[in-house]
Amino acid sequence: MFIDTHCHLEDENFSADRVEVLERAKNSGVEKIINFGSTLQSSAKIVELAENFSELYGGIGIHPEEIDEFDEKTCLKLAELAKNKKIIAIGEIGLDYHWEKDSERRLIQQKIFIEQLDLARQLNLPVCIHNRDAHGDTLKILQTEGKNLRGVLHCYSGSVEMSREIFKMGWFIGVDGPLTFKNSAKLPEVVKNAPRDMILIETDAPYLAPTPFRGKRNEPALLIEIAKKIAEVRGETLEEVAAYTTANAFNLYNL
Ligand code: NI
Repeated sequence: MFIDTHCHLEDENFSADRVEVLERAKNSGVEKIINFGSTLQSSAKIVELAENFSELYGGIGIHPEEIDEFDEKTCLKLAELAKNKKIIAIGEIGLDYHWEKDSERRLIQQKIFIEQLDLARQLNLPVCIHNRDAHGDTLKILQTEGKNLRGVLHCYSGSVEMSREIFKMGWFIGVDGPLTFKNSAKLPEVVKNAPRDMILIETDAPYLAPTPFRGKRNEPALLIEIAKKIAEVRGETLEEVAAYTTANAFNLYNL
């Protein structure tokens, strides 16, 4: 059994065949899937999907590329959505300096990130972090503003050294399709050196389809390709990878 711990099945890419996508996930051993929001609208859609499909759970939050919709009422609205029992996390929240080059807008991203960390603490929920080209500030904010919080650095792309800091805080890393890419850079080294109780597995579908499906629409059934690569990099069996990544998902998220 596998759990896809980060997905976007609310995406319109899945409107035509969502039921078939869920069927294929089940047939390949992916028994639970956690969808993550990026706006209030996608977060509401995730709540609706979680109510309609027993295998779906959700995280809700405002993504750093969507900060323009954030206002003083946003956290209240998120808290309202989080009343649903199948909403088990706040996310994805964080920093994206790849798409945002303006220093003042990066500061706004930081402020909204911190406000949503506070929200997660108030609601007693774990958090799912988006970090793109913002390793230093992400780590600094988690170390200073992440007290009494647990979470995962989703689609981990930092260094081995940064991963050690993350593990020291008791936080997880999420491993996705890029591990299977030829240009996966430092990621295999990170995955090889990670304690097994700190690794989550995720597709981030519809994005980041693993090799040999790279460039196509990703879906939870392809999680198996990432699991095979983790097994290869760490010298483990597929069954071992399934067992500990599933245990870790249960450990972080109250599924
Ligand atoms: Ni994502």
